[in-house]
Amino acid sequence: MVNQLRIVGRSAHLNVMCNAAFKAARGLVRDFGEVENLQVSRKGPGDFVSTADKKAEEILFTELKKARPSYGFIMEESGVVQGDEDSTWIIDPLDGTTNFLHGIPHFAISVGLKKGDELIAGIVYDPIKDELFYAEKGGGAFLNARRLRVSSRQNLQDSVLATGIPCIRHTPLERKQFENALDKVMPLVAGVRRFGAASLDLAYVAAGRYEGYWEPALKSWDLAGGIVILREAGGFVCDLKGGEDMLETGSILATNQSLKQTLKDLLLPEYKL
Ligand code: IPD
Ligand code: CA
Ligand code: CA
Repeated sequence: MVNQLRIVGRSAHLNVMCNAAFKAARGLVRDFGEVENLQVSRKGPGDFVSTADKKAEEILFTELKKARPSYGFIMEESGVVQGDEDSTWIIDPLDGTTNFLHGIPHFAISVGLKKGDELIAGIVYDPIKDELFYAEKGGGAFLNARRLRVSSRQNLQDSVLATGIPCIRHTPLERKQFENALDKVMPLVAGVRRFGAASLDLAYVAAGRYEGYWEPALKSWDLAGGIVILREAGGFVCDLKGGEDMLETGSILATNQSLKQTLKDLLLPEYKL
C-alpha cells in the first residue's frame, strides 16, 4: 500500500479522503481474492452490485462522516445524504464493478469533494496497482509521490484515446452515437482503449497515459474525483455538449490543451441529439 507518510501534509481534506480510501481498499482487495464467494445482485440489465461495493461504501461513509460531520454525500449505492454545509462528498466505492466481478484487476475507489458548485478535491485509488491519484484545486495533481502532467502529444496520429463501449443497458441511440464517434476516430489515432473504469480513464489522461477520453451516459460519482485530478494536471475537460455540466449530464471529453479543439470538432457533433 502507498506509503501513507508520503501524502501526509498535503492537505487536511486529502488526508481524510486518502485514509478513508485506504481503509475501504483493504476490504476490496480481500474480496477480489475470493470473488466467487460474493453476493451479487442486479440493479438493472448489465448493472451489478456486490457486497464488496456496499461494504466499501459503508467504510467510506463512516470515515468521511467521522472526519467532517457536517458534509453531505452523494453515493452510488446509498444515494444522497444531506449535510448542514455546502460541501458534498461524491463517492463511487468501486468503479469497474464488471471488471472486479470477472477477476480483471482494473478498478478503483473514487471520491470527489464539491464545495458549492465547484469541485475542489479528488482522489482515485487503484488498490491492485497501488496507484493513488489525487489533487486539490490549486495544489497540482499527483500519482503517489510524483507530480502529474497531461501528455504533450499534439497529433492525433500519435495519440491513444480511451472510451466506454455501450452494452445491454444502453439505448439503441447511445449505441449508434458510439459507433459513429468510433468510426470517425479510428482511422486517425494510434489506438483506442476500453479498460472499464471511468475514474481511472480520467486519471490516466491526467497522467499522460492517454491523450484523451470520452464517454456519455455516466454518473456524477464516476467523474467527480477524476475531474479535479485532470484539471490540476493541466488538462481540459467538457461535457459532450461542449459545456461544463459533466456531473449533471454524465458525459465527458477529457484531453490535453493541444488536442482539445480537434477532439471537440470530431466528437461533439455525434452527441448533438
Ligand atoms: C462503470 C465504469 C465503466 C463505465 C460505466 C460505469 P461502475 O462504473 O466506470 O467504465 O463505462 O458506464 O457505470 O458501474 O463499475 O461503478
Ligand atoms: Ca462507476
Ligand atoms: Ca461503482
